[in-house]
Amino acid sequence: MLRYQDLHSRSLSDPEGFWGEAAVGIDWVRRWDRVLDDSTPPLYRWFAGGLLNTCWNAVDRHVEAGRAEQAAILYDSPVTASKRTITYRELRDLVARFAGVLRGLGVEKGDRVIVYMPMVPEALVAMLACARLGAVHSVVFGGFAPHELATRINDAKPHVIVTASCGIEPGRVVAYKPMLDSAIEQATHKPARCVVLKRPQAEAVLHPGRDVDWDEAMAAATPADCVPVAATDPLYILYTSGTTGQPKGVVRDNGGHAVALKWTMEHFYGVKPGEVFWAASDVGWVVGHSYIVYAPLLHGCTTVVYEGKPVGTPDAGAFWRMIAEHRICTLFTAPTAFRAIKRDDPNALLLKQYDISSLRALFLAGERSDPDTLHWAEDHLKVPVIDHWWQTETGWPIAGNPLGLELFPVKYGSTCKPLPGWDIRVLGADGHPVKPGDIGSIVATLPLPPGTLPGLWQAEERFVRSYLSEFPGHYQTADAGFIDEDGYIFVMARTDDIINVAGHRLSTGAMEEVLAGHPDVAECAVIGVADDLKGQVPLGFVVLKAGVTKDHATICKEVVAKVRDEIGPVAAFKQAIVVERLPKTRSGKILRGTMQKIADSEPWKMPATIDDPVILSEIGEALHSIGYAKEKLAG
Ligand code: COA
Ligand code: AMP
Repeated sequence: MLRYQDLHSRSLSDPEGFWGEAAVGIDWVRRWDRVLDDSTPPLYRWFAGGLLNTCWNAVDRHVEAGRAEQAAILYDSPVTASKRTITYRELRDLVARFAGVLRGLGVEKGDRVIVYMPMVPEALVAMLACARLGAVHSVVFGGFAPHELATRINDAKPHVIVTASCGIEPGRVVAYKPMLDSAIEQATHKPARCVVLKRPQAEAVLHPGRDVDWDEAMAAATPADCVPVAATDPLYILYTSGTTGQPKGVVRDNGGHAVALKWTMEHFYGVKPGEVFWAASDVGWVVGHSYIVYAPLLHGCTTVVYEGKPVGTPDAGAFWRMIAEHRICTLFTAPTAFRAIKRDDPNALLLKQYDISSLRALFLAGERSDPDTLHWAEDHLKVPVIDHWWQTETGWPIAGNPLGLELFPVKYGSTCKPLPGWDIRVLGADGHPVKPGDIGSIVATLPLPPGTLPGLWQAEERFVRSYLSEFPGHYQTADAGFIDEDGYIFVMARTDDIINVAGHRLSTGAMEEVLAGHPDVAECAVIGVADDLKGQVPLGFVVLKAGVTKDHATICKEVVAKVRDEIGPVAAFKQAIVVERLPKTRSGKILRGTMQKIADSEPWKMPATIDDPVILSEIGEALHSIGYAKEKLAG
């Protein structure tokens, strides 16, 4: 019992001592001047004055230290029926060569490089090559549409974009290159050069003078060495949904990130160097950045790049096959993946075909883990199943059962205790702590630990306004929940308009902007409604402009297509309904929360500030007619 408590207390009472000691896990070119620079609150910097290279720490040093022939990456792609093992030595050589390609195209320290790629090892090579040069990568998830990519191009202003000819989704080849071309056309910033990895499943037309072929460029490149960068220099920008169509560019530094991620591998995930760690996510998400790429490699583990799905590639035994074949010790995924497996194989019969004795733990994150799924996974896998809570902004878990330190009794629905470095409070609207068990805004006392966001890309004012202003001295997580008498954290809901669809974070505000752009739409609202598989899915309500006579079904189809077109298939926006009016407060605020409760048949109260209560009955009727609001206005 003492291990966690001691470490957690020390991390808060003596953060410099705690993280200074953790920093010995990383090779430094020059030691830091101060572990924590707290001279300009509410902005803090970790390991200021220190110099290091993240790629050196993730790749080269392991080659020198005896891991040259160990697998660094296991690529397993059921969608292309291919597999590949890349040792640390091979990875170093590939990364050095690709860094040479980038340098040859004019990329230097501090320049941005966008990576828009499917789940292939070259995506990791591109990211690490940026880190090698001190360039700043920004990976954009392949399920986003060209418009979203264009928004990120305009904000990050990349010198180079790295892409592939295609990604492969079950049943269809997704041609990336035309999407990239369209994004560049839409963007006001134009990248100087693009590197295109040609895959056999799709051709790619290269623009002479701008686009280069990955293989040809690699063959001609001179390998580049690691460039020392400041600990506080940015390693990457990762865009995540904000409350509008303008995503937030979460920045990650080099020093704090390397220290914190390396530390979590042993002390939280309980993994040793040399073991096989699999985060079944995508490099386009923060889980992919932290636990497919950086943390396992910083720790000298073997990481897994899986180009497939939990079900359908070929069946619900895909994860068990992966664990058995690659002797995976730790699996990390989103609860939705397990819901999909449970749905297709409720009694886990496929599990009997595989020896998964190498598996020691399953970690779930990205959305609330429902107790049913947790129980199912525990019953069948017979290893600890750990729900842990984190965000793109934090880069690593805020709370979870710290397997690497000690395992606490599970409370279903709770993400257990705060990790060392995290001082978590629940505050009421007045900014004061609420009693244990009472719901409020979950905040973290500043300074946040290393590895968390030092800011938003070139948007300091937005950073302070979004995260640090509402509760001075604290980081606002935008999650609501409570802490019980035993210190267990329960994360219940977002306090903003973010929804979680299959573990993917999406902004309903951004979808509303797209709907509002339809010529027949006067007003609209998007809410997240409960979904058995994806946790939540978006549902749109549109009020039509006066005089529109077009058939409602056609308009609904058009707005659905528009969201897919402008945000991407990942939004999973498949349903919209036309309503006469939207329920609002007297000050004109749309009552999305109440609409969501009605849709999900949850208990709800008539808001005191409602303008016209009758509208809620209309909404209830409309929802009922499409299969929601089962209780039909039990309010
Ligand atoms: N490139 C292009 N399109 C993509 C894509 C990519 N990289 N990833 C997803 N899409 C598309 C899918 O093909 C799908 O399109 P469709 O509407 O034509 O069917 C859409 O985006 C939604 O994808 P997804 O969320 O994956 O839903 P799904 O219904 O295809 O699969 C699950 C459901 C549960 C199997 C799937 O969501 C899953 O594996 N989730 C794991 C969760 C995860 O990795 N979370 C990351 C954070 S930890
Ligand atoms: P993302 O930035 O995509 O990682 O999404 C972060 C959000 O996902 C958090 O703010 C939470 O709302 C939600 N989330 C992530 N993990 C959990 C969890 N274990 N339990 C509940 N919600 C979670």
